[in-house]
Amino acid sequence: MASHEGRTYVVTGAASGIGAATAAALAEAGARVIAADLARDAAPPDAHDLERVSLDVSDAASWTSVAERLTGAGTALDGLVNAAGITRRARLGDATADDFAAAFAVNATGPALGIQALAPLMPTGSSIVNVGSAAGAMAHYGVAYGASKWALRGITKTAAMELAPRGIRVNLVSPGFIETPMTASAPDAFRAVNLASTPLGRTGTPEEVAAVIVHLLSTDAAYVTGTEIAVDGGLTGHGGGLPIARAMGSAHPPE
Ligand code: NAI
Repeated sequence: MASHEGRTYVVTGAASGIGAATAAALAEAGARVIAADLARDAAPPDAHDLERVSLDVSDAASWTSVAERLTGAGTALDGLVNAAGITRRARLGDATADDFAAAFAVNATGPALGIQALAPLMPTGSSIVNVGSAAGAMAHYGVAYGASKWALRGITKTAAMELAPRGIRVNLVSPGFIETPMTASAPDAFRAVNLASTPLGRTGTPEEVAAVIVHLLSTDAAYVTGTEIAVDGGLTGHGGGLPIARAMGSAHPPE
């Protein structure tokens, strides 16, 4: 496994859930981690020596100050993880313009602004990972959130094309149902049907998503760009075929 020793990464949404697990995994792999979130002190103290910075991913000026801080310290950046995100669960008939504005600002424009601000600090061999969602591959979720994650797929692929000539890779990791503060507030029915629709028959952990992100950041993934990896226990992989597989005798009946 490739080492992250001596490498520096910015991770957004690093105070909670998948972002926090990714920051911790990178620190454990020897990297210097700039852990960015809305409130610098929001994260509980942990065993890792993370450099915490305040960042609103939807605000271009906020990204500029992170870039200036890195440039001022003469830091070359080896990668960026765009894990910050917000949910909006309203269905089509109820979603407001504010729901769309908020979801797109944080989940789609935010990662794009981050890439714009920080890619200039990255040498050849750097890697960017955006955190998408199973909601960006299906149409089951609230329209504003889902559409923002579909948009992030486009941003990921566009950035991969534009940054490839500079040797910077850009990929998307799309989680299914992962146990984090975000999903803790999900309705019981959503949890139950998700479990029943997931071939592996369980929810995932933030650490399981972080492990894939850490791999994509590493030189082990040096020839991987512009792609999407689902970390969802097979939720999107069966394409609706799970009930048929079960009817035909699959070993994993619904719980
Ligand atoms: P979380 O709610 O535990 O953590 C999200 C973090 O993002 C929080 O610390 C929050 O303060 C931060 N954040 C929100 N708005 C921000 C902003 N404007 N600027 C900077 N930071 C901001 O959520 P979780 O579950 O860890 O989600 C991480 C990513 O994974 C999100 O992009 C989410 O959409 C995605 N995801 C999560 C899934 C899950 O099942 N938990 C499933 C699919 C995708």
